[in-house]
Amino acid sequence: MDAISLLKEDHKLVKALLEDLTGSSTRAVKKRTDLLQQIHMNLAAHTTIEEEIFYPAFREAGKKEEEKMYFEALEEHRAAEDLVLPDLMKTDPGTEQFSGRAKVLKELIEHHIEEEETEMFKDAKKLLDKAQLQELGERMQARKLQLLKQLKAA
Ligand SMILES: [Fe+2]
Ligand SMILES: [Fe+2]
Repeated sequence: MDAISLLKEDHKLVKALLEDLTGSSTRAVKKRTDLLQQIHMNLAAHTTIEEEIFYPAFREAGKKEEEKMYFEALEEHRAAEDLVLPDLMKTDPGTEQFSGRAKVLKELIEHHIEEEETEMFKDAKKLLDKAQLQELGERMQARKLQLLKQLKAA
């Protein structure tokens, strides 16, 4: 699979999980806990392959504008993964506070995905050729499987 198709598939999955999470009620404690675990795992694998493989290739192929996009994307990962998600994981799933925080995480991630898909990936398709995108996709797929295995074992 080429790099962009792979990343878009991941986006679809994480968006669906977030949709389920924000659609769940304060009574669905077990469901919320399970969904959060899945979001955590899939998001970690996804942002890692982007940061290790895709983003550097994108930055390398581009100029000043791509460099700006690169740094902005990294900060969005940090906001979601290092700030909002850990906070949500410490929140009692049986509360409305959890519902509110889940909604904020969902909006943050949706915004990030939207920017990647409409700006970064579109740009990447112009900067990188088919063979390069294919090769990046293969490397990311292998790394993703490795990461998911590690995360599941943890
Ligand atoms: Fe990202
Ligand atoms: Fe992404």
